[in-house]
Amino acid sequence: MGRCFQGWVFLLAVLVLALSTPCSHAHLKHKKFKTKTGVYLSPKFVLEPGLSSSKYFYNVHFPKGHIALKSFNAEIIDEEGNSSPLHEVYLHHWVVERYYARKGYVEPDQQLPQQLSESDVIWLRNSGMCQNGALGQYFGLGSETRKTATHVPGHYGIEVGDGKAVPEGFEERWMLNVHAIDTRGVEYDLGCTECRCDMYNVSRDPSGQPLPAGYTGGLTCCPDGAKCRLKQGFDGEKKNHYLRYTVKWVDWSESVVPVKVYILDATDRMNHSAPAGAKHNCLVEYDVEKSCNATNGCLDNKWAKITMPTGGYVIYGVAHQHIGGLGSTLHGEDGRVLCSSTPIYGKGKKAGNEAGYIIGMTTCYPRPGSVKIKDGETLTVVSNYESTQMHSGVMGLFYILVAETL
Ligand SMILES: *[C@@H]1O[C@H](CO)[C@@H](O)[C@H](O)[C@H]1NC(C)=O
Ligand SMILES: *[C@@H]1O[C@H](CO)[C@@H](O)[C@H](O)[C@H]1NC(C)=O
Ligand SMILES: *[C@@H]1O[C@H](CO)[C@@H](O)[C@H](O)[C@H]1NC(C)=O
Repeated sequence: MGRCFQGWVFLLAVLVLALSTPCSHAHLKHKKFKTKTGVYLSPKFVLEPGLSSSKYFYNVHFPKGHIALKSFNAEIIDEEGNSSPLHEVYLHHWVVERYYARKGYVEPDQQLPQQLSESDVIWLRNSGMCQNGALGQYFGLGSETRKTATHVPGHYGIEVGDGKAVPEGFEERWMLNVHAIDTRGVEYDLGCTECRCDMYNVSRDPSGQPLPAGYTGGLTCCPDGAKCRLKQGFDGEKKNHYLRYTVKWVDWSESVVPVKVYILDATDRMNHSAPAGAKHNCLVEYDVEKSCNATNGCLDNKWAKITMPTGGYVIYGVAHQHIGGLGSTLHGEDGRVLCSSTPIYGKGKKAGNEAGYIIGMTTCYPRPGSVKIKDGETLTVVSNYESTQMHSGVMGLFYILVAETL
């Protein structure tokens, strides 16, 4: 995890001095590149059988100062600190968002981000093209969290905490949204994890309007507090849970090369009549219909073409998919593959290897400089799912880190 790399950067410096130095522990102590680690707990959230819990925690613990983020790993644990397996606590998603808040402002408990006062909070989105609300996060994954590499390699890092960029009277803060579903004793696991409206007995959206025609499942049907149908007579205790997250970073310095965070969505569609800055309509979720034929077998293929205003070098890439996902690929304008990321399904019982769940996604770490996106290049993101059965509320996101210089 980036450790030898710090040595490697140092090594380059020493090579200039015509010295030959191996990647040894001593170099890790080199002040400039010393990786720091923080392990934090989210506030507590309480689950009970069938409960969907989507909590918004504001001003959460996060490293302070002008730094470059190197990795963000997380998992759900219980009161005793044990890892909660996905077949008990399904981690639908967690996201970490960055914002400036007026000093002294206290975020009201459990309000949605869009409900916070606009004069007190300024959201800092990633560089992706979806600008219509969701997908503004810096980090975020779901059930695949435990086995997905997130480290930013080499002398690259995600720059945050630059005090000079903060408006007068404001300070930088972080928000954490954790959406977990307690599937102990439920009648139909996939129905609960895919947020099927009939399983949650939901027929209206949060504003009380009937659901759109054909809407059978997705986030609208498993909001915070919704209950998925249990097997008759099942009774289980309430349990406390936390998201434990580990952040690694280095202090900011001229030797760190910043990377931009892009999140591309296979449902991104252009709306040319929308105002500038909102032309990319990203639905975030979509449904996979049950369909098989002789040519393609049972394969659902969703894709979007997305133009990158500025390009650069891909340093890291990973896709995010839900159960049924078969992998996702990001192509350049000429069809070349920029990154391909595939789900890893669990095979056992233990936390980190739960059968039937996506426990990890493969990642791309191209040799820096080898995968270039041109300014104005149109990329294609393709998301594949198996379609032997229908799936509701699935996702096809691609997360890339792009360095504008090497
Ligand atoms: C489902 O919701 C309806 C109202 O929308 C309610 O009348 C009914 O009792 C609910 N059923 C269950 C099993 O909770
Ligand atoms: C496109 O944008 C216009 C203007 O904001 C809006 O009224 C319309 O509903 C949008 N169309 C779609 C399909 O989202
Ligand atoms: C087979 O299915 C795919 C996607 O499900 C579709 O695009 C294609 O047109 C179908 N082919 C035939 C011959 O029906």
